[in-house]
Amino acid sequence: MKKIIVAIDGYSACGKSSTAKAVASFLSYAYIDTGAMYRAVTLYFLDNYIDLTNPKSISTGLSNIEIDFHRNPKNNQNETFLNGLNVEKNIRDMRVSGKVSEVSTVREVRIAMVAQQQKMGKHKGIVMDGRDIGTVVFPQAELKIFMNADFDVRAERRQKELLKKGELIELDKIKENLAKRDHIDTTREESPLTKAKGGIEIDTTHLTFDEQVEQIIHLAQNEMIKT
Ligand code: DC
Repeated sequence: MKKIIVAIDGYSACGKSSTAKAVASFLSYAYIDTGAMYRAVTLYFLDNYIDLTNPKSISTGLSNIEIDFHRNPKNNQNETFLNGLNVEKNIRDMRVSGKVSEVSTVREVRIAMVAQQQKMGKHKGIVMDGRDIGTVVFPQAELKIFMNADFDVRAERRQKELLKKGELIELDKIKENLAKRDHIDTTREESPLTKAKGGIEIDTTHLTFDEQVEQIIHLAQNEMIKT
């Protein structure tokens, strides 16, 4: 069977990452969470007081950033490393979540991240999730998925996800953050979130996790046997 690229885009908190991870694991493909890359840049920018209105500050910041993923043998999950430090937990906190959409609108940031992502997918056999994977990073991907879900369902899912990590956040605060990110992600000038040409939309509001994973695996397998 030929190796393909599976591009998964969609709104925040509609299950993209966990679904993409499960699909990659089933297909024995690499999984890249591009949101984690934008989050790592945001963490660096916050910690190093990078001024988003100063192009010099941004390019110096970007030149000092190295992002890698390493598998944690304890849970078999890929974790995000920023300049050699494991930042998997820090990049998910509300401080980073509150700023990441703004940092993601910066053209220089996108150019740097897209170049790295394209390198990672050069040999195919990869599942990548984000906002612009099917539209900008891999418009030629064999399978392009656009995931969506009802806004309230997404907010509840995000709250549960944070709770599992020990962070109890009020639902209203989560909704406020999601609404703000949706607005920035879909209206920004650089690579706004939109369904890719030829993309397949999956609404996960009424789907179980297993159902959404199975749907994508089925679509991927159909592509893998095409000559
Ligand atoms: O998937 P996530 O919620 O962890 O992503 C965090 C932010 O990163 C999201 O608000 C938009 C941005 N992002 C992006 O602009 N492009 C991507 N390919 C992935 C994420």
